[in-house]
Amino acid sequence: MSSPANNPDERVPQHVAVIMDGNGRWARGRGMPRQAGHRAGVKAARQIVEACGRRGVRVLSLFAFSSENWKRPQQEVGMLMKLMVEALDREVDELDRQGVQLRFIGDRALLTPVVRERMSRAEGRTRDNHGLILVVALSYGGRWDITAAARQIAAEAAAGSLDPESVNEALIAGRLCLADLPDPDLLIRTGGEFRISNFLLWNLAYAELYFTDVLWPAFDDNELDKALDFYARRERRFGRTPEQALESAR
Ligand code: FPP
Repeated sequence: MSSPANNPDERVPQHVAVIMDGNGRWARGRGMPRQAGHRAGVKAARQIVEACGRRGVRVLSLFAFSSENWKRPQQEVGMLMKLMVEALDREVDELDRQGVQLRFIGDRALLTPVVRERMSRAEGRTRDNHGLILVVALSYGGRWDITAAARQIAAEAAAGSLDPESVNEALIAGRLCLADLPDPDLLIRTGGEFRISNFLLWNLAYAELYFTDVLWPAFDDNELDKALDFYARRERRFGRTPEQALESAR
């Protein structure tokens, strides 16, 4: 019988994480305002959600707005938030129909009440769906995530409900935003930079990293397939020898 180890075509990542970079450059290259690039970026995201669903990916995590993106000009930040609200108003019905479960991770305290309300509504609406889990990282940073977990652990220890000696990797992982989800198997970054940019720092420890020069609005099904093909060819060892890794994949 064929197994993922000896038939690379069957090796679909369970969890794909994406840093969607290059909207601004895509627009500039067309003599358009940055806003047009972000709008095209939303369209690309929509397409990739469906494509991932069709390819059998279980979890897709999109880095939509980082903790550091708050430093952008106020006008661009406002526009991105407006775009997010519009996208939710337009897409949630269809995502729900497709069985997508929508989740948001990030520091909600920094978001406006309007954005927070749309997010909670979308999450509530799709909570019981069993299709693709779509995680949208908004006002998110990997360091923020780990810091929040550390603060929570410290508070529990101070209150006497947690023995500091019991703190281990599993306990920390259980306090992070993606506690109940598998770690990303594959990270895709578009836009030609070779950085993690404070995305899921803890969770990406063993992810395969795929970088492409393609700008996010131009990242389509065909480009996704290239990334999935790259993944299917990787040998994932998690610190083991090649022989051990082959054995455990059997
Ligand atoms: C990078 O382009 C993209 C962002 C800052 C995030 C915004 C992403 C979208 C609007 C995509 C839609 C996503 C969802 C989930 C609705 P950039 O501005 O950094 O591009 P540049 O590096 O070319 O300037």
